[in-house]
Amino acid sequence: MIDQRKLPSKEVYVRCRTAKDVARAIRTMVIRGAPAIGVAAAMGVALDVRRSRATEFYRTCDLLAATRPTAVNLFWAIERMKRVFAGGALIDAEAVRLHDEDVANCRAIGRHGAGVVPAEARVLTHCNAGALATGRYGSALGVIRAAVEAGKRVAVYADETRPFLQGARLTAWELVRDGIDTTVITDGMAGSLMRAGMVDVVVVGADRIAANGDVANKIGTYTVAVLAREHGVPFYVAAPLSTIDLSTPDGSGIPIEERDAKEMTYMGASQLVPEGAAVWNPAFDVTPASFVAGIITERGICRPPFAESLKHVCDGNQ
Ligand code: MRU
Repeated sequence: MIDQRKLPSKEVYVRCRTAKDVARAIRTMVIRGAPAIGVAAAMGVALDVRRSRATEFYRTCDLLAATRPTAVNLFWAIERMKRVFAGGALIDAEAVRLHDEDVANCRAIGRHGAGVVPAEARVLTHCNAGALATGRYGSALGVIRAAVEAGKRVAVYADETRPFLQGARLTAWELVRDGIDTTVITDGMAGSLMRAGMVDVVVVGADRIAANGDVANKIGTYTVAVLAREHGVPFYVAAPLSTIDLSTPDGSGIPIEERDAKEMTYMGASQLVPEGAAVWNPAFDVTPASFVAGIITERGICRPPFAESLKHVCDGNQ
């Protein structure tokens, strides 16, 4: 897998030979993004199952499940692998299928979502919900890519996304490679940008969507949603069904990962915060459903009231 910690300055790959290698890669953010860590976990299970017995299989699943708590795709993928293992089917094939399905889902999210992007649009996104964060193509960036492929003139504003800089480093890297007009702003600039009338629509990804439509996504997403509401800009979430967690009634039940303070206090070797200052580093926040105009899935766009539309789409209805 490409080492996302090193982008954009270095394009280096990490080879994982065991589930332990994959777990370390997920924990240390070599790979990140909800669908991508689900696919990686499935591949990790497949790597170890070749050499393990049943008890070890479940231990491997536990090891991978303990890496990051917020994105539900991780647990969804591991549960799917457990079911396949219990049914005696081929684990390797299932991991590959899961990856292929994720790519197809991103394409379908793009097809459904392109319609929310005006023919000439300035789109604001936060964090990275692109090819790097999924099997390929992306969820939020899938919507942008599909709009561009449909001939729309799209300019993207990418929030830098403190502290890990997924927007500045990863979203900008992806979009520039695709030749899509990209402008990076610091997180604190989004309000002025909207106030100046320079954003037509916001599209972000998600790590977990509760049954009522509350959305956990990268820290700072909630701020963007509040600003979008204030300025009358539609706020959309693009995510596959594997991100929807109907067993969690609302956002208050979503576990929010807190990461090492060093992500905030240091930039590489440079110290940014003096010793003695406390820091708070939650990796995600929850945007209440009332701020969300629509949730773009591979089966279409869910609209409020989300308790009904999400259940409907998860039950297999369009
Ligand atoms: O901490 P990260 O980089 O894994 O967080 C990623 C996000 O918050 C993404 O927006 C989300 O996973 C959607 S990716 C299609």
